[in-house]
Amino acid sequence: MSTTSSSSDSESLGPLPVYKELVAQGSLKTDDFQMTIIETLQEMHDRLKNYSPEPLVGDSEKAPEKGGFFSKISSIFNKKEDERLAREAEEARRAAVPKGLYLYGSVGTGKTMLMDLFYNSLERKDKARIHFHSFMLQLHGRLHKLKTTTHQHQDPIPFLADSLAKESRVFCLDEFQVTDIADAMLLRRLVEELVVNRGVVLVTTSNRHPTELYKNGIQRESFLPCISILEENCIVKCLDGGVDYRREKKTFFHSAKPVDKAAFSTSTMPSVKKETNAQVELVDEKRFFWPLGPDTKKEVEDYFKAIRNGTPVQEKRMSFLGRELILPHSAGRIAMCSFDDLCAKTLSAPDYITLADSIDTLILTDIPKLKPTTLHRNETRRLITLIDALYDSQVKLVCSADGPISEIFGGGSGAHSADEDPSTMGELTPAQRQMMDDLGLSDVTQVKKSPIFSGEEEKFAVQRAESRLIEMQGPGWGL
Ligand SMILES: Nc1ncnc2c1ncn2[C@@H]1O[C@H](COP(=O)(O)OP(=O)(O)OP(=O)(O)O)[C@@H](O)[C@H]1O
Ligand SMILES: [Mg+2]
Repeated sequence: MSTTSSSSDSESLGPLPVYKELVAQGSLKTDDFQMTIIETLQEMHDRLKNYSPEPLVGDSEKAPEKGGFFSKISSIFNKKEDERLAREAEEARRAAVPKGLYLYGSVGTGKTMLMDLFYNSLERKDKARIHFHSFMLQLHGRLHKLKTTTHQHQDPIPFLADSLAKESRVFCLDEFQVTDIADAMLLRRLVEELVVNRGVVLVTTSNRHPTELYKNGIQRESFLPCISILEENCIVKCLDGGVDYRREKKTFFHSAKPVDKAAFSTSTMPSVKKETNAQVELVDEKRFFWPLGPDTKKEVEDYFKAIRNGTPVQEKRMSFLGRELILPHSAGRIAMCSFDDLCAKTLSAPDYITLADSIDTLILTDIPKLKPTTLHRNETRRLITLIDALYDSQVKLVCSADGPISEIFGGGSGAHSADEDPSTMGELTPAQRQMMDDLGLSDVTQVKKSPIFSGEEEKFAVQRAESRLIEMQGPGWGL
């Protein structure tokens, strides 16, 4: 499992002192809501620091039932007692596992930043921090490998859980979301195998309370056990101070002087400033060009020419799971693509993550004003997923669009009406199709009708995308 990992000078202190220091330095604003969360994270840190998990005995590793006649007779006599002892041992094992954290709330309130402070200050080797989309991408890959190689005729999920838990006992998963049936079915099983059967501690952020996950999703009742597991095994906390710091960030950072590069980190987690006199020249350059027309086209082309600085423009081809993504205008780690190139084709999270990993700057041209409720449902989802992937990889994004950011997603809400015909919504991507096959879920007719986002999920997704687009215009982004 690949992880985002970094170290800081303050690793051994835990997240609370680091947070306090960032506030004292002026890198973070005082926020009482965040303070209560960071105190919880500090307690978890202290407990996890010295926590030695039980050795792993996953379902897939349990020995097959052995024994002849005598052992069977004795097992009948002792069965009740054995069962009681086994139950008690199991309860003790589960009670010894520290609780995780499920942190939910509105966009831009600092959930990811706090989780990253926790992650970076936790001195354990068996930890992982990953964004939800990348996690699902890795799961798809591992699952497919298991099904096509070693475990063709077996249930692959316990093996998948074994391999994940062997690598990491503390899992920080950013942006937990369940938007389609393929993910719902996989997560339902995997969360149980990891958290309940293998004692993996889950720390996760989300825009939604657990009971709101996958709301209105197809076959939601099958997903409900996953919600119970999350509620039983994680402390559920809301972070909602009513401030979207992304919208504030530009002004805030402009006022935070003198500065060093650390304070302008493009990561969600500001670093503790080191003693340095280094000054960073922040160029408040224009990155969002509108409206569409010949003037904007020229401005964007000039921008591309200026930043590629003589590097020749070429076509670039990337492939993932046998699919090819073509970037028509690419210069080193800079790509210029139209909205239609990236959002009007059946691309999905894996393609966008692969793209985001291979570039530093994307110039995305000709974004129309979207009408998420009617015409552009799929295009809207893809644009949101693309923005998520670019944001997570801290790619610099330059856009030309038919209107300002506030008008791209049709004025904000993005939620579809309850009576919308689900058969016109969503699509089954090749990756989802493959995963359904690997999971042995054959009811593809149902899945075809499965919404990629439920109404509420989409509303948050649109808010998040707008909030991110705004932060990505800031002078510190993509340095
Ligand atoms: N107290 C604060 N003072 C100043 N900036 C902050 C503060 N808290 C968070 N930020 C900044 O606000 C931005 C958004 O924070 P973050 O990404 O953690 O939000 P989030 O709650 O995870 O949002 P989303 O739900 O969209 O994922 C980050 O750049 C972060 O560094
Ligand atoms: Mg976040």
